[in-house]
Parts: sequence; structure tokens; C-alpha cells
Amino acid sequence: MEMNKISISPEIYSFFEKNIYVENNFHNANEKIYSICGIKDFFPCEEDFVKVKTRLKSNQNLVKDDSRIEYGDFQTSESLADLVISRILENKFIPSVVLEPTCGKGNFILSVLKQTTTFIRFYCIEIYKPYIWISKFNILDHFLNSTNRTVPHIEYLHQNIFDLQLNEIVKLDSNDLLLIVGNPPWVTNAQLGILNSDNLPKKSNFKGHNGFDAITGKGNFDIAEYISLMLLKAFSNVNGEFAFLLKNIVVKNLINDQNYNRFRIGNIAQLSIDAKKEFNVSADASLFYCKLNSEPEYKCLRSSIYETNGKTKDYFGYVDGKFVSSINTYHRYKKYDGKSTLVWRQGVKHDCSKIMELEKINNHFLNQNNEEVFLEEDLVYGLLKSSDLNKDVIDTTRKYTIITQKKIGEDTSYIAEKYPQTFTYLESNKEYFDARKSKIYKDKTSFSIFGIGDYSFYKYKVAISGLYKQTKFSLILPLNNKPIMLDDTCYFIGFDNILDAIIILLALNHETTQEFFNSLIFFDSKRVITKDILMRIDLVAILNNIPFTYFEQLTRKNYNNLCEQITIQMFENILGKISNKNLVPIQAELF
Ligand SMILES: C[S@@+](CC[C@H](N)C(=O)[O-])C[C@H]1O[C@@H](n2cnc3c(N)ncnc32)[C@H](O)[C@@H]1O
Repeated sequence: MEMNKISISPEIYSFFEKNIYVENNFHNANEKIYSICGIKDFFPCEEDFVKVKTRLKSNQNLVKDDSRIEYGDFQTSESLADLVISRILENKFIPSVVLEPTCGKGNFILSVLKQTTTFIRFYCIEIYKPYIWISKFNILDHFLNSTNRTVPHIEYLHQNIFDLQLNEIVKLDSNDLLLIVGNPPWVTNAQLGILNSDNLPKKSNFKGHNGFDAITGKGNFDIAEYISLMLLKAFSNVNGEFAFLLKNIVVKNLINDQNYNRFRIGNIAQLSIDAKKEFNVSADASLFYCKLNSEPEYKCLRSSIYETNGKTKDYFGYVDGKFVSSINTYHRYKKYDGKSTLVWRQGVKHDCSKIMELEKINNHFLNQNNEEVFLEEDLVYGLLKSSDLNKDVIDTTRKYTIITQKKIGEDTSYIAEKYPQTFTYLESNKEYFDARKSKIYKDKTSFSIFGIGDYSFYKYKVAISGLYKQTKFSLILPLNNKPIMLDDTCYFIGFDNILDAIIILLALNHETTQEFFNSLIFFDSKRVITKDILMRIDLVAILNNIPFTYFEQLTRKNYNNLCEQITIQMFENILGKISNKNLVPIQAELF
């Protein structure tokens, strides 16, 4: 791996020849290097001193190649580090102490040294020793190649950051201005689990949440989030600034949790970077910046690191205790933020697609193993997945599924008696069901499914995908007189009356609802749309605010083949149904 080679410049060779090869005492060698570039204990021990000298003399590489996945290793390029540091320094902030908590090859340290002239103390932590060598040699080279530079004081700690008490290591006095800068590992605890890696914090309730899954190791969290929280806990009361390259989802979590962490951070900004260009990864990532020891703030400016005088400023974060993705837009539509009287549901979950997802070819069912499947039709329903929700009205499906239960936990022994072909098929593929990893299937009746209940069997549904970056809702009609099912990546409300469904569909797709909805959604999240967000749409407020003529015209224009022409009385009746839980419910479950 070429990237791990240390490039030893002619200046370093010459310096070593004149000053270091002649030295037998590594303390003396360290002093010489310290006086030139400020690196403390360049050679941490006698053995390293001998090894480095021998390798350099014989032109051998100093570092070996290793798998670096478990260390979330995406080294920041010199150009991006320079840009980050120039953004920080342009606000007239000159640190006296810099902490790079996972310093890697050290480009941030080098950038600070290139762009400042004052004396700075550096603390640089890194778990991977070869990177420390690379960083040390780069800094030595920098000083050998530039004259009249203020020599800093630089301490490297070849340590696991999770083993350190950082505020005991970074010594600060009241006049110090601290810059915490870096790019912590891009890896999640789940990825580390797969790699069997222990590069993890000791299990602790690091978010202080009850039942947060990370505590038990169940939930997925970014190591970078843990490190950010560690540092903010240790240093948010200290004068200085904090600047980390992070995935946007981590920044969102930090701001989301700020309402109970209440860190003393202000001027918070998320300056997006092009992660594809900078790191060749497909991820939404940014520079997360904030000022330490400020009045706590709960919102974050969204901008780009490449723009100096950004366009209109927008923020995400808290407004009146509610978390939103666009504060500007939210202010215009916040009257729609409430509690939906209709319950949004997630679709069917079975974790057994090889057997449970079928296609119909020439009137024959085929499963995902490409086997022909013989079934009674009764338990077979049309199935829509997220990618199928791409039309206004949907009445056909590419896929089918077997609905083994009418509600969660229902005994499935009836299948053997009533539907022998279906039972034979399921039973002969039992091993696929038994191999389902999720704990929800443990000790449950055979062929159990989840996300199923009375609500699944409503004839009409208004649905949306949870995964896609589009916010239009679709109307789902029955197929051969049977309700169509959705998979667990989708959310829906069920209706037994087509007009009710069409009015709710129109209300949700109205531009004001769409704008409001957009002001809540974080498009860089893995699951863009969640039940929590959908449940915030106050359908009553929306129906009360959209003029009746909108519904009248659109039902006539687009849906006259599906429903009768709506009158104001019919509209008020629907409004009454969803406003008042004592009236005939639109669907079985109302709050
Ligand atoms: C995303 S890279 C960034 C490196 C450097 N900050 C930069 O911007 O180029 C993350 C670095 O964290 C280091 N690292 C990973 N786990 C660590 C740990 N537990 N303690 C200290 N460093 C760690 C990796 O070896 C890697 O160099």
C-alpha cells in the first residue's frame, strides 16, 4: 500500500546523516530534533531509535501494510486539512493549544503549523504507530524546509483514545485557547462487530438515554459520535473551538441530543464537504464546527465548506422544543406540527424474502430461489416495496407475499388444516424461517410475521416509502378485491372508504403539507421518513387550512373514475371523522 510509505526527503536524509547517525544516545537525538521542530520524544525509546536509523540507512520502508478498516481510516488530504484550518483561522481565532485526538498521518497538525506564526502546544493521539512516524517525519521535513518558523511543542500519544482521561493529558490554563480538530474514525460499532474488533469504547450509557441500544451493543452508533461526545464533555467549558469532519448523521445526532446534553457550545455550523471527491466514499459528510464555552445553542447552520459568503442561511435544530431540518421553512408551516389523529403504520416484516417474496410468471408463482410454488390463493396478497411507490395511484404489484397471520402472535397451526399446499411450501422451507436472526422471531409460532394487524386489511391505503428522498404519497387500491400489502420499508394509513383515502392523499400531497414535511426531514438519514415524523403531521389543521375548492377540483379532474364528486358536506363529514374520535372512525384505530 503505497500510501503508508514515509516519504523521506533529501533534507531529512541530510539532517540524519549530519546529526542523528552520529548520535548514540537517543535522548540527545531527541533534543536535537526537539530544537528544530518541537516534537517531544521523537524516538520514544532506544529500540525505536536504533530501528529507525537502521531502516533509513538501508533505505527500507519504515511501516508495513495492515488492514485499517476497523480504525475507520480515511486520512484527510493536505488540501482539505488546509481548507478546514483556513476556515477556522479566518475568524481571527489563534489557538494556543491544539488537540488532534485521532491524528493519523497528521495533516491537520501540519496545516496549523503552515498557517500560524505563534507558539502552539499540540497533543496528538493515534492508535496506529506507523502513522505517528509518518506525521513526525512530515513535520520534521516541514521545519527543515522553512526558516524562521516559531518552533512549537508537540506531544504524540501512541494510545487508544478510549483509554485516556483527556483533561488530565491536555494541560490548560485560563489564558489558553484550545482548538480540537480532526477527523475521527468513520466506522460504526456494528461494522466493528463484524470485524471482531475491540476498537470500541467500554460499554457505557454514553448518551445517558434510557434503553439506548448502544449500551447493550445492540444499536448502531458511529465511533466518531462517541469520540465527539467524549471531547465535548471534557472541554466544552474551556475557551476555544471544535472542528471535526463527521458524517452528517453524526452531526444531526449531536444537535438532536444537545437539548439534554446542553453543552456550552455556540455558533454551531455544519459545512458540507464532497466526501466522494475528498475520501472516495459515498456518504454525506461535513465539517462540524462550534465555539466552546458559549451560551448553549440548539441549532446548527447548514452551509458548504467551499463557499465563503454563503447563500441564504438556513439552520436545523430546535424550535420551541421541536427538532426540525429547516428552521426557516418550519417557521412558515409550524401550525401543522401536531399529532396525527390517524395512526401511521409500518408494512409487513418477515425477514424471509427468499421464501415469502413471490413473483407471478405466466400465472405461476416463483419464489426468490426461482422455484415454482404451489399455493392456495387465500393467503397470497399483492406486495409493494419502497421502489414501487412511484405513482399517484397504484393498483397492481410486481410481487406477492404470504400473509400467515392476521395479527401479531396469531397461532399459525390453522394453515396446515385449511391450506395444505401453502403449509407444505412453508414447512419444506422451515430452515429459512428458523435462520432469521432478529430476536423478535425467537420463541414465536412458526412462520411468524410482524407489522400486521386489522389495519393491514383496509381496502385502500395512502402510503409512502421510508427510504427514498421523495415526499409524495401514493394511493393504493385493492388488487382482485384484496388489499395490497406494503413491506416494512413503507408507511401507510388504511381506509375502508375511497373518498376518505383520496382526501387524505390530496391533503398530504398539497404543496403546503409538502413544504412543512420537508422542513422536518433529514434527507441524509438512512431512513429518511420515519413514523415519528409522519405522526407529527396534523391532518386536521391541514384540512382546515386548504381551501375546499382544491379538493373539489382535483377529485373531479384526477379521481372521478374512483369516487363520486365531493360536496362540502361530504368534506366536512371527513373532517369531522378525523377531528373527533367519537364519530365513526375512518379506520379502526384512532387515538
Ligand atoms: C478518519 S482517520 C483520520 C486521521 C486524521 N485525523 C486525519 O484527519 O487525517 C481516523 C484515524 O483514527 C485512528 N484511530 C482509530 N481508532 C482509534 C482509537 N481507538 N484511538 C486513537 N486513534 C484511533 C485511525 O488509525 C486513523 O488514523
